Order: sequence, then structure tokens, then C-alpha cells
Amino acid sequence: MTESNFGYEKIDDKDHSSRVRDVFNKVANKYDFMNDIMSLGMQRLWKKIFINSINAPKEQNISLVDLAGGTGDIGFRFLKKFPKNNFVNIVDINQEMLREGKKISINNNLSKKCNFICSEGESIALTDNYADILTISFGIRNVSNRAECLKECFRILKPGGIFMCMEFSLPKDIILRNLYDAWSYGLIPKFGKLIVGEEQPYKYLVDSIRTFPSPEEFSDIIISAGFKNTTIRQLTGNIVCIYRAEKI
Ligand SMILES: C[S@@+](CC[C@H](N)C(=O)[O-])C[C@H]1O[C@@H](n2cnc3c(N)ncnc32)[C@H](O)[C@@H]1O
Repeated sequence: MTESNFGYEKIDDKDHSSRVRDVFNKVANKYDFMNDIMSLGMQRLWKKIFINSINAPKEQNISLVDLAGGTGDIGFRFLKKFPKNNFVNIVDINQEMLREGKKISINNNLSKKCNFICSEGESIALTDNYADILTISFGIRNVSNRAECLKECFRILKPGGIFMCMEFSLPKDIILRNLYDAWSYGLIPKFGKLIVGEEQPYKYLVDSIRTFPSPEEFSDIIISAGFKNTTIRQLTGNIVCIYRAEKI
């Protein structure tokens, strides 16, 4: 058996995707609301910074793929910033998350601009050299085989295309780290129980941040997939990192 980390739990690699799918099935209908609670609203600011770091001409029709796009938040924000664009591809392994995303797109008159694709990040159902920009926000730490997924991101980007990833990291400052641990271990699972009726998915989400590679280690995995000019931007005392890399 090949082992993989599911938070701190060691599980059979082949069960990883279905366990992750279970987590997001349970949280899908309250996902965006819980995100605000868990991050004390900071996720909105982080996502704004992430979208603002997309440095592309506003007049141009850019082809964006948002991988692990869940309920579509990044795709919708992208369409708001770049309204000239025809549509975004929102790719996710989880039908429930995509279903929520579809509802939001209909309610916001964006459904014609969004293409929801149910597909694994390790084998994305899109052709080679397809996208100008690939984003993945708070998704990569849930992906079973990250190295394979990054190779797929490289494959579907056009030469000159940009890879942008936002993911949680751990605060370096000891006081912030203690506060962060108290909040995430002590309170987030309790809020999960109260609001969604489930504590376990939130324990996993919190643990998965602790077991994700350091920014430097993750950057090396991005480079191993073929990307060049990798940069890391740390936000809010290193609670979140934005990784940017180019397919030359
Ligand atoms: C924490 S949510 C992030 C959603 C959204 N990107 C955001 O920033 O709010 C993580 C998403 O990753 C998706 N996911 C997990 N493993 C995946 C995989 N192997 N391939 C594609 N999506 C995956 C989950 O279904 C979930 O929707």
C-alpha cells in the first residue's frame, strides 16, 4: 500500500480522493459562509489580493482555468475584474461544490460565462496549451498527488502562461502562531459542529494546513513540474502564501 497524508492520518493513497470528496460533500452548502467564519473574513481580502496580482491586459480575452475552483469564487472575482472575458473554466473533483457554484453563477447572471468541469486535478479534462492563466486557491493541499497535479497545470498552460496558487501556511511569529493554533484547533471544529453539524471535516481542513510542505519545499515541487521564475508572496504574517510561476 502506498501511504498518503489525510491531515495527520495515514491512509491508503487510493482512498485519498474519495476521503477528500466526502469532506467537501459535507461542507458544500455552507462552504462560503464557513470560510468567512474560519478566516474571520480575511479570505475576502486574500482573494482580492490574489486576483489583483493577475497582471493581464484588461482589454484582452484571457483564458482562465480555476482548478479546485469549488463554488466558483475565484472565477467570479476574475470575471468582475476582467469583464471582457467570455468565460472561465471552473474545474473541481466535487460535484456538490460545483453544484453550489452553478447556483451562485445563475443568481449573479454569470452562468453563460462559466464552464463547470468535474475533473481531477491529476488528470485535467482540457487539452494541452489551453490556458493563459491557471489559478488554484486553497485547493492544492487537498489534492492527492500534488506533483502530478502541477505537471497537469504545466501541460494545460500555453507557453508564456502563468500559474498562480494561493495556499495556507503557518505563521512564523510565535505569538501569532499561538493565537492561530488556539483559533484553528480550539474553535474552528466547534463552529463546524454548530453551523454544518460536522466537526470532523474541519479537523481535517485544519490538520491539512499543518502537513502541507513549507513554502520553500512547495516552491521546489512547482519547479520540478517544469515551471520557471517562481515567486512566493507571504500574506498576514505567513498565514497565506501566493505562489506565481511561468511556463516558458
Ligand atoms: C478549500 S476548497 C477551495 C475552493 C475555492 N478554490 C476557494 O478558494 O474557495 C478546495 C477544493 O479543492 C477540491 N479538490 C480537492 N481535491 C481535488 C482534486 N484532486 N482535483 C480537483 N479538485 C480537488 C475540493 O473538491 C474543493 O472544492
